[in-house]
Order: sequence, then C-alpha cells, then structure tokens
Amino acid sequence: MNLKKHILCILVLVLISCKENNTSKDLALNSAESHSKIDNIEDKVSALLSKMTLEEKIGQMNQYNGFWNVTGPVPKEGDQAKKYDHLRKGYVGSMLNVRGVKDVRAVQKIAVEETRLGIPLIIGFDVIHGYETLSPIPIAESASWDLEAIKKSAEFAAKEASAAGINWTFAPMVDISRDARWGRVMEGAGEDPYLGCKIATARVKGFQSDDLSSHNSIAACAKHFAAYGFAESGRDYNTADVGTSTLNNIVLPPFKAAKDAGVRTFMNSFNELNGVPATGDKYLQRDILKEKWAFDGFVVSDWGSITEMIAHGHAKDGNHAAELAVNAGSDMDMESYLYVEELAKLVKEGKVDKKHIDDAARRVLRVKFELGLFDDPYKYLDENREKEVIGSQEIHDASLDMAKKSIVLLKNKNNLLPLKKEGQKIAVIGALASDKTSPLGSWRIAAKDNTAVSVLEGLNQYPGNTVTYAKGADVSIGKEEFAFEIKVNTTDKSEFNKAIQTAKQADVVVMVLGEHGFQSGEGRSRTELGLPGVQQELLEAIYKVNKNIVLVLNNGRPLTICWADENIPAIVEAWQLGTQSGNAIAQVLYGDYNPSGKLPMTFPRNVGQVPIYYNYKNTGRPSLPGPNVVFWSHYQDQKNGPLYPFGYGLSYTTFKYSNLKVSNTFTEDKKVTVSVDLTNTGKVKGKEVVQLYIRDMYASITRPVKELKGFELVELNPNETKTITLTLTEKELGFFDNQGEFLVEKGDFEIHVGGSSYTELSENFELK
Ligand code: NOJ
Repeated sequence: MNLKKHILCILVLVLISCKENNTSKDLALNSAESHSKIDNIEDKVSALLSKMTLEEKIGQMNQYNGFWNVTGPVPKEGDQAKKYDHLRKGYVGSMLNVRGVKDVRAVQKIAVEETRLGIPLIIGFDVIHGYETLSPIPIAESASWDLEAIKKSAEFAAKEASAAGINWTFAPMVDISRDARWGRVMEGAGEDPYLGCKIATARVKGFQSDDLSSHNSIAACAKHFAAYGFAESGRDYNTADVGTSTLNNIVLPPFKAAKDAGVRTFMNSFNELNGVPATGDKYLQRDILKEKWAFDGFVVSDWGSITEMIAHGHAKDGNHAAELAVNAGSDMDMESYLYVEELAKLVKEGKVDKKHIDDAARRVLRVKFELGLFDDPYKYLDENREKEVIGSQEIHDASLDMAKKSIVLLKNKNNLLPLKKEGQKIAVIGALASDKTSPLGSWRIAAKDNTAVSVLEGLNQYPGNTVTYAKGADVSIGKEEFAFEIKVNTTDKSEFNKAIQTAKQADVVVMVLGEHGFQSGEGRSRTELGLPGVQQELLEAIYKVNKNIVLVLNNGRPLTICWADENIPAIVEAWQLGTQSGNAIAQVLYGDYNPSGKLPMTFPRNVGQVPIYYNYKNTGRPSLPGPNVVFWSHYQDQKNGPLYPFGYGLSYTTFKYSNLKVSNTFTEDKKVTVSVDLTNTGKVKGKEVVQLYIRDMYASITRPVKELKGFELVELNPNETKTITLTLTEKELGFFDNQGEFLVEKGDFEIHVGGSSYTELSENFELK
C-alpha cells in the first residue's frame, strides 16, 4: 500500500469510527441498533464519497470481465492492458468471471492495495444452480414447489461459491415465460407469477441469508428487468411487446417480491419493451424500481447491453448510449466499457447530472459495506475453507435431495413404476443415459465435465437386476463442451439395431431421451419442441419390440411428446438434475423416493399452441354450443388445452380431495378461509401439492380463468386424511389496474382446489 493512500484510508476510518463511537453511546434498543447500522453505513458511504474524484466514482460503476491471467505478467497491449490499468487506478468497481481464491485474491489485492482509496471489488458470477456442485436447473427445482428446499439449495450454492471467492450471484432469474421455445425457461420458475414470487423470495433469502455480511452469504440479483421472458416467438434477445395489464400483473410481481425479500441488486435486460431498450428505460428503472418500490441497491446492465442500444436503434453512438443508460438508472456497466470512457465527459458537458453518478456510486458502495467487504476485503478468500467446502459431502447430499424433489411423474399406466428390485432384465437405452456432462445443464461454468452421476451409474447402484446398455442414437455429435458446437444427430441410425436387440431381451426398457444440457439456456431457442434428432424414431422402433418402456426425459423446457403420452406406459420428467442426477432418478425409478413434483410450466401438444399457459383470459367466445359451430376461439386442427397442465404431476400413491369449504366473512376480518380434506387413498406414503386457484368472475380489468393464489406441500401416510386450510386476503384477491394501482373489487369469485390447475373441487363466494 503506498503511503499517501494509507494515510488517507486511516483518516477516513478515524472519521467514521468517531461517528460510530458517538452514536453507539446512545443506543439502547435492538431496532435502534439496526437503524444505526444502516445510518452508519450511510455515513461511511458519504465519508468515502466525499474523498472520491468523479473518475473514481464512475469507476465504481464499471464492471469488467476477468478472463485474463492476473496472476501472470501484466498484459502490455490492447483492451486487457487497459482494463488492468483501470483496475490499478481504481476505475473498476466489480469484476465477473474471476473465480477461485487464488485468482480473486490477485484482483482484490490490486484494488485494495494499489488503488488510491483501496476500495474492494465486488466479485460477480453466474451461480445459477450451484457453483461447482450443481443442483437441478432452476425450472426443475421450481417443480418441487418446496420453498424450504429451494431456499436451502440457494444457501448451499452461496456457501460453495463464496468459498471460491465470489460474493455476488447473477441470480435468481425471475422472468416469467409462457413460451417453451425460449431456451432460458430453464433458468426461471416457470409461467406463474404467484409461484414465481414465492420462489424468487426463497432464492433471494437463500443466497443472502439473514446476514449479508456472513462469509457464507452472497448478494443476489433479480434479473432481467424486465419482460425478457416475453421475447417474441421465443427467440432469445427478441423484442418484447407486453401490454400494461400483463406487465403489471404477470411480469413485475416476482421482481417486486425479490425486492421485498431484500435483494441487493437488479440486472436489466437485453430486450426492448414498447420501443425502449430496458437498459435505457427510465420508467422501469427509476420510476418503478427506485421511486415507487424504493429499491436502494444497485442495477447492473446485462452484458454489453448499454452498447447494444445502438443496434436497437435507440442510441446514436456509445457516448449517447452511456448518457441514456445512466439517466435511466442503470448503475453499473457490465462489459460495454462506456461508463468508464464516456461518463466523465458527459458530466462535464452537462448531459448527465453529477447527482446520478453520486447516487449510482453510493448504491454500489452501500452493497459493498453491507457485504462487509470494507471490514475485510479478503473475507471470502480462505484457501482452507475453499478446499473444505467445495464439493463437500454436505453439498452433494443437498444436491441429491433437491434433485429427487424436482422429478415429476407424468404417466404411470398399470403401475409400471416403481421397478422391481430383483430378478429383472433392464435395458437402458439412449445416449443421455450414460452422459455425465449433460445432466449438469446450462449455466455450469465452474463445474467440470463428466462430473454428474449418469442414469446408468445410478441404476447400477441396485445390484438385484441385470442392466444392459445400448446407446441407440446420439443426441449430439461433436464437441459437447461448447454449447454452440452441439449438433443434433438427424441421420445416424447405425446403432438402432443393437438397441432393438437389447430391448427385445429385456423385461423393462428405461429410455433416457430429450435435450442435451446445452440445448437450452441463453441463446438456445428452438422452433421444434419434440425429441431432438432421431430420438423419436428410436423410441418408436424400440416400442415395436418391447412395450414396457419407462421414458425418462432430460430437458430444459417443456417438450411436445404427444406420441409418447399416447403409447408409452411410464413417463418421468427428470429435467437436468445436476451433479447427483443419476442417483436421484434411480431412487425414484426404484420407489425409494416417491415423486411429488408438479409442472411449473404447461406442456403444449404442439408448437402451434405456444404461447400456452393456464391463466389465460376467457375471451368473448370461449365456446359456442353445437358441434358444427366455427366461430369461437379455437383451432381447427388441435385442442385448445395442453398435453399436461401447469401444476400437474403424479405420485406412486393417489390422493382424494373432499369437503371443500369456503368461509365468506371477508367484510369482518378481510380474510377468506378455504379448507379441504386431503386423503392418501393409495398404498404408500406420499406428498401432494394442494393448490388453490381463484377466478374473479368480472372486474374492471378482466381476470384470467384461473389464478394460483395458495398452495401447501402435504405429506400423508396411506389412509391418512388431513384438513388443509389456506387463506385469501386482499393481496390475493386484488389485481393491478392499467395505472399500476392495486385494486380489490367487490363481486363474485370462484374458488378451485386440487392437485393441478385442472382442479377437482370448486365453490363460489361473493366479496361484499
Ligand atoms: C448475459 C446473461 O443474460 C445474464 O443473465 C448473465 O448474468 C450475464 N450474461 C453474465 O454472464
């Protein structure tokens, strides 16, 4: 540390601690203490800001990607040398994609020991479903409807990532999507805003814990603000054209839930919304997020999204793009280099108010203080902890637990499942059955290839049966480590025959088919949603010789599998389940774990139905009587309804719903109580997600035919009955109007309760 900087730092700290000592004398109550903690942070930020030059403040708003060898010789030329130089000058507030204690220490040391003020970096990384040990992809976790488990999974992800020096994750993605063509549905919680809000809350709390300054917690980031999940025709980065009612009632609520859960950062999005790129959208970032919702963390741009405003046709050039972004409320520039290059000029020219720079820098510094980085910038950098925590048994156990909970049983005709444990000849078919990389799914930067337990390995843990494997067909040809190099095998059937012979001799065939882990995720949109390549043909060829097929699906999005649904007796939705994938699948197939997952997204019958979702509007022509009537809202060539609805999933046991009761005492206590009896009518213990939907029959803004407004995960022994009580308050019964105001309107409601969005029981009540 140079001497000048050292003295300056000491002065700042003395000032701050004088302030702390004065206030601490007066403290008596706990609430006063937490206020004072906040005040102290604000004071510390103010003291620091008062020492900073304009360029240093802008530096806090600059984030660089860290793909260069900071531990080796300093790069001499080009962009990397410039980045390195900026880092030493204090013109970098954050880096992403630097990971591992050694590398993070190297950059942190430069920030803390070589810059004038020694302000530590905040280190970001896409910890989307784990760091090195992966849990299921987020849509799979969402299928558990188990909020405690989802929170735990985020907690373990934070623990592992923080042990690798990371203190900020770009998660959770809370984008609602109704379009399975969009590859990033794998990264979200599905199509429903109510479930989306609950899961957003669980994930934020899991990552951040109650104490952000603990070395096991990391700051979370609600992304992508906003409407990224509504990319037209499911093509990633495409324009979103979302009506006001959908924006207020479907898109924004999970972001608001994340904010209410205390999320410390937001990321804006690549898409434009109603003609304005989200990165330059003042209405979203300043008016809604920072003013209406009073969010006091910071907003990071998406990768290069400030520059992209030029291609969008919104900014004239880089200088203009920086001006638009900062004025709209984007606080940190991820990899556009435009803030660091243009902002000081823009301030001097009077095009950007200095108060926006102060505000943005304050927000970034605030989060750094909350993380405890100023107390100890090296707090995440402990080599022993890194060795102990990453890949620990505890994290593997948690990943297995989450993986089992994420599996959805879609069909089980004649109870083909669970499999018998003894004396069976089992044929295992499909390239994905032996794949140890694909189950890791997309967003697995820190995970090593070939580290997932394959289905084949999982099944081989059960020694009582004879297992024979035949690949049948590849999903992909080529190098699998690079997503862009996934090539679908559309021609090669040379291994079909071997697979057919294997199937012929088996009692049961387990076919593992679907998408490779890199066929969903960012930039992986699809126009076809069937089994990629020749897998459908393989399935039909095997079916001809053996009908006892258990189809295990691996996929990052809903698929169109009508033929399989008609013909294959057992279908298991196993997504991409992460490191422990094969063990989880085997335990479910053998009945050691009774599946209880429910779909967080509708499965369409064909692509033509997309976007398809359960909470649609009724229209003026929902149906017309008589068989030959044409003029109603339908297709000529396909049913309106999905293959599998939102909320659907079976179990090895069965459940009966009865005795639905709705109290209508809303006027007195502003609550409606809904109770239902749930009985386990099968032979084994099992869990069921009891789902409560409402329909507001008429309103000033029309409401969907059903809206999820409550659920409970219930475990029952055979023959056991439990009464489940769920409560509706104004929060569940109201909606946002087109001015964004929340309304609760009187009138008639239907209440629906059951084990999916195709509910079994209903009642009416009037809100007086
Ligand atoms: C682009 C993605 O859209 C975003 O979700 C991610 O966090 C950043 N890249 C950083 O990797």
